[in-house]
Amino acid sequence: MDNIRVGIIGSGGMAKRNAQSFSQTEGYTLKAIAARNPETGPNLAKAHNVEFVPQWQSLVERDDIDALVISSNNESHGQMVLAGLDTKKHIFCEYPVARHLDELQQIKEKLQSSSTVLRTSHNEPLSASHQALKTQSKQMGNLLSAFFTRLTPGRGARPEALFNLPLSGPPSLFFVYHIYPLVDIFGPVAWVSAGAEYEDLQDNGQYHRFVNTVIAGFKKGGLAQWNWAGGVEILEAEEHRRIILTQGSLVHNDDTWQTSTSQGTQIIPPTDPITKSLVEQFLEDIHQETSWQSDTQVSINAAAVGLAAEKSVNEKSRVQLS
Ligand SMILES: NC(=O)c1ccc[n+]([C@@H]2O[C@H](COP(=O)([O-])OP(=O)(O)OC[C@H]3O[C@@H](n4cnc5c(N)ncnc54)[C@H](OP(=O)(O)O)[C@@H]3O)[C@@H](O)[C@H]2O)c1
Repeated sequence: MDNIRVGIIGSGGMAKRNAQSFSQTEGYTLKAIAARNPETGPNLAKAHNVEFVPQWQSLVERDDIDALVISSNNESHGQMVLAGLDTKKHIFCEYPVARHLDELQQIKEKLQSSSTVLRTSHNEPLSASHQALKTQSKQMGNLLSAFFTRLTPGRGARPEALFNLPLSGPPSLFFVYHIYPLVDIFGPVAWVSAGAEYEDLQDNGQYHRFVNTVIAGFKKGGLAQWNWAGGVEILEAEEHRRIILTQGSLVHNDDTWQTSTSQGTQIIPPTDPITKSLVEQFLEDIHQETSWQSDTQVSINAAAVGLAAEKSVNEKSRVQLS
């Protein structure tokens, strides 16, 4: 079978990582790097001995590229995915799949008649501990409430992508990788209500402190809440997670999920380790019938929660999702 010819868009951290993975995985040939950056773009292309393309649009139009690997900033993902679907490219997209609700809707519509694959970079489909959590949660009744809380001492002046609003959007969108697991287990969300407060937020995205809370109601019932607070008085970052179901709770402790019921607590044994990488999974998606459609639907639903949270903050109202 012929190798899948790959073009990467972007030349930042994830583009570098993806260039490495795709060039080292059997079944792919890395053909080109498309990037707007006149230094890092050509450098990355040179490092892999492939062509440099200054405009991503011309990469998408080419017939000698089978798959796009979208590794640029969040704002650009939706338009690149839509252009790739139009030109029948297979697409591997860093999360989130889009930065705007109307783009998500268009992607959903185009996928209905798409003959190519769209996979986002969420790792849960290949995570043994997530799969074990999903199986266990289905044996413990209905969801009542789930929460995720992250506290960090970091302030906006620090350079991490996490605190880079122009790159990542508001934390609720960047944290789409914490929303995905719950949406994967409990299904699509009906409504979202969110609040965000930044202390001393400046035009360049720096701030002294922020708090951001997102509450979602699932279509099948039950609530979830994600809280993030940055720049708070705490020694080091902390995370707390719990899923409360009608027949007990699932509690995250020391990197391990446990069940907690009136009988006591028990560690959930992970399922067999999954050794496949996402890049290998994408190749299987392309060559065989796989479940990429349901994974992609979850990533669209998860991104919708982050985007609806942003809308809810801006409009100061609860947002219904279709
Ligand atoms: N899968 C994961 O584990 C993971 C981890 C971290 C991040 N991510 C996601 O990966 C993506 C890239 O993150 P990163 O950490 O690689 O960021 P990064 O190092 O800042 O790189 C961003 C890249 O996007 C380019 N870019 C920025 N604005 C653009 C625009 N308007 N049009 C075209 N290209 C543009 C940048 O070009 P310039 O150099 O010219 O600005 C740069 O090449 C983000 O969506 C992020 O959410 C995924």
